[in-house]
Amino acid sequence: MLVGGVSTVVLAAGEGTRMRSATPKVLHRIAGRSLVEHAVRAAAGTDPDHLAVVVGHGRDAVTTHLDSVASELGRKITVAVQDQQKGTGHAVGCGLAELPADLGGTVLVTYGDVPLLDTETLKALLAEHAERGNAITVLTAVLENPTGYGRIVRDASGAVVKIVEQKDATPDEQAITEINSGVYAFDAAVLRDGLSRISTNNAQGELYLTDVLGIARGDGKRVGALIASDPWLVEGINDRVQLAAVGAELNRRIVEGWMRSGVTFVDPSSAWIDADVQIGRDALIEPGVQLKAGTVVGENATIGPDTTLSNVTVGAGAKVIRTHGSDSHIGAGASVGPFAYLRPGVQLGEKGKIGTFVEVKNSEIGAGSKVPHLSYIGDATIGEGSNIGAASVTVNYDGVQKHRTIIGSHCRTGSDNMFVAPVTVGDGVYTGAGTVVRRNIPPGALAVSGGPQRNFDEWVIKRRPGTAAAQAAEAALEQHNAETTEEGR
Ligand code: UD1
Ligand code: MG
Repeated sequence: MLVGGVSTVVLAAGEGTRMRSATPKVLHRIAGRSLVEHAVRAAAGTDPDHLAVVVGHGRDAVTTHLDSVASELGRKITVAVQDQQKGTGHAVGCGLAELPADLGGTVLVTYGDVPLLDTETLKALLAEHAERGNAITVLTAVLENPTGYGRIVRDASGAVVKIVEQKDATPDEQAITEINSGVYAFDAAVLRDGLSRISTNNAQGELYLTDVLGIARGDGKRVGALIASDPWLVEGINDRVQLAAVGAELNRRIVEGWMRSGVTFVDPSSAWIDADVQIGRDALIEPGVQLKAGTVVGENATIGPDTTLSNVTVGAGAKVIRTHGSDSHIGAGASVGPFAYLRPGVQLGEKGKIGTFVEVKNSEIGAGSKVPHLSYIGDATIGEGSNIGAASVTVNYDGVQKHRTIIGSHCRTGSDNMFVAPVTVGDGVYTGAGTVVRRNIPPGALAVSGGPQRNFDEWVIKRRPGTAAAQAAEAALEQHNAETTEEGR
């Protein structure tokens, strides 16, 4: 059994040259989390005594990011710096240097660029390691095309003898299809001893962590392997093609998980669901939906088609159609879209409506209140049961400051109203079409603005002679005159 607990070292110092990116490789994201966050979460799931991440390239950005991951997980992450990337053996040494010198028990080594590796597999590796009483247990996989990976060399009895890197392998060794995933459980003392004995005497002139296996085996220690049945779990990311492939596979797994827990996806491959999303039973996800981190969808809600929600909570039974929204709340039974834009800070009440070609920002729209058509509502508070007429705008910006519009409950505002903020509209108010609301309206009043309509006859014909408008007007008037003359006969 395990003695002295488990510590984990996650290697994340490499440059990731093939990403061709200004962003360190491990900060690239799939399913809404950075690659290194996926790795750290998997490791944290085994509840290790120490969790160290070895950083190098882009260390400032990676360290800042790890601080926020640590606070989200509510656990300590030790950051170890590897100044120069002298190989995986050197990297693990840098990690151990930040942990207690007399560290015992088991050291789990994983990579920051292997995002699908899960806690379950790490636990299985630890269990195998403990049950067999191994000094080292390596996680392996059998691949159709093992090119590029270190190969697992076994003896006639099937016992692991050593790992040989692609560039150091003989043709016979290159034919081996069992590969080193780069994930291992080490007895801490065996690891420390092995690291003190490895050399750069190899094709890449690096300090290979893999050489520790051969050294331990030479000392007569037990070295074992656990073969991962699912190669995706150990798939590393080196370029953006792999980033997309592994991202798609992770998404496929996330969507499948939600379908198995009672969510309907009409077109699973067109739905992109971040890891940090919750979806209630009997929700219906139409084609073309992206649900990003922090989004929570209630039971029986319908999302899509063609909707992107980021950190939006959607109440039970709500319908959100062709909508782009972030940092907002949509009440139970409410309806949003088609073609709606919810910017941060929208609180739509139960059974409320934000309709077609409507943009809302930083506003509360109370239960049962509706903004159905062609409107901009920003920095507003609208009570319950009010209806905002088509093509209304809260004029919230005076060029310097933003101001609030307050509209009461059970109001009926006319079409094409401008609410020039700051302004307050009382409960039960009606307004006429085209009203420019510049002054507060007391409860129960009808507000209208602008004088009576005046028509300047034949203004276009006289002032814009020869234009298409003038010609059309002349033709219409001639036709009209001809008809009235005809009638007069
Ligand atoms: C390594 C293994 C190989 C295995 C493969 C699996 C060795 C010598 N070889 O190969 O057997 O099949 O991983 O992907 O270990 N890193 C550091 N500092 C360094 C070097 C690497 O932090 O100085 C990190 C990288 O960021 C990466 C991981 O270690 O996350 C592996 O490095 P990489 O160079 O990709 O390993 P390979 O040489 O391909
Ligand atoms: Mg390498």
